[in-house]
Amino acid sequence: MTNFVNLSFHATMRIMADSKIKIAVAGIGNCASSLIQGLEYYKDVDEKSSAVPGLMHNNFGGYLIRDIEAVAAFDINANKIGKDISEAIWVSPTNSRKFIDVPKKNVKVLAGALLDGIAPHMENYFPRKENAKNVVRILRDSGAEMLISFLPVGSREATRFYANACLEAGVAFINGIPEFIASDPEWAKKFEERGIPCAGDDIQSQVGATILHRALVELIRERGQTVLNSYQLDIGGNMDFDNLTDRNRLKSKKISKTDPVIWAAGTKDIKVVPADYIPHLGDKKIAYIIV
Ligand SMILES: NC(=O)c1ccc[n+]([C@@H]2O[C@H](COP(=O)([O-])OP(=O)(O)OC[C@H]3O[C@@H](n4cnc5c(N)ncnc54)[C@H](O)[C@@H]3O)[C@@H](O)[C@H]2O)c1
Repeated sequence: MTNFVNLSFHATMRIMADSKIKIAVAGIGNCASSLIQGLEYYKDVDEKSSAVPGLMHNNFGGYLIRDIEAVAAFDINANKIGKDISEAIWVSPTNSRKFIDVPKKNVKVLAGALLDGIAPHMENYFPRKENAKNVVRILRDSGAEMLISFLPVGSREATRFYANACLEAGVAFINGIPEFIASDPEWAKKFEERGIPCAGDDIQSQVGATILHRALVELIRERGQTVLNSYQLDIGGNMDFDNLTDRNRLKSKKISKTDPVIWAAGTKDIKVVPADYIPHLGDKKIAYIIV
């Protein structure tokens, strides 16, 4: 589910005025690791490069990958705080695959606002540190133009905290998690009134289970058949899956994963659920899709 709210002329021009797109990131876990590694891995790609595996666009609206620069980072894991972002992305329990060495970026991970960021059963996994009152100032001082949120699913209060901090600091908010901000009319209005872009909610892998499930039901309907029902069971061994074993945190993720398939299938009899956390799978996700 992706909504783009008010990519207003004013805000867009503000971003385009600089040659770099300056990003802040909240939650330096697996997704942030892939993002920071990706910025390094694809830094030499330009308009003249041929199709590059892993990139949907070499050039996006005039911007290249090397135009994206991380300028601020927040986490609440004390083992990551104080480290350069290039080192923090390797700190446990983050377990995303390493595909490139990342040189020092001179961007320290700083303490953010904890709130409901950690599931109760994960509270003792690592020491925690927080400094909520500094977030707005850091966003302003760093020159960040947008904050990308990669918080764990179920971080309802923390997501709203960072969204508010963006409104206060005049920074765009890209919500990579299934908490409804860009798709909530009240929140959308707040960003619109301030002339600040807001996009989300949740990110999707390029060729992941959701898009594959959707493509399958679309194919069936396109070929003149009816989808009566379907289900998808996901298993994996990263912290996202561990967090999702807490059923209380799951509601928004279920909506975000199920709605696109319901929409494509033409029936509400669709179920998409993270079935379990299997540690030895590491950052590999397996989806069983039955249509
Ligand atoms: N991994 C994927 O392929 C994928 C795909 C789509 C969406 N997502 C969503 O993206 C989000 C991040 O996924 P991930 O795999 O990187 O998770 P992760 O658990 O690896 O990383 C989350 C990070 O957020 C930090 N954190 C927790 N509370 C915080 C707070 N209040 N402030 C700042 N940092 C905080 C944690 O310490 C951790 O470093 C999840 O909501 C997930 O559902 C992930």
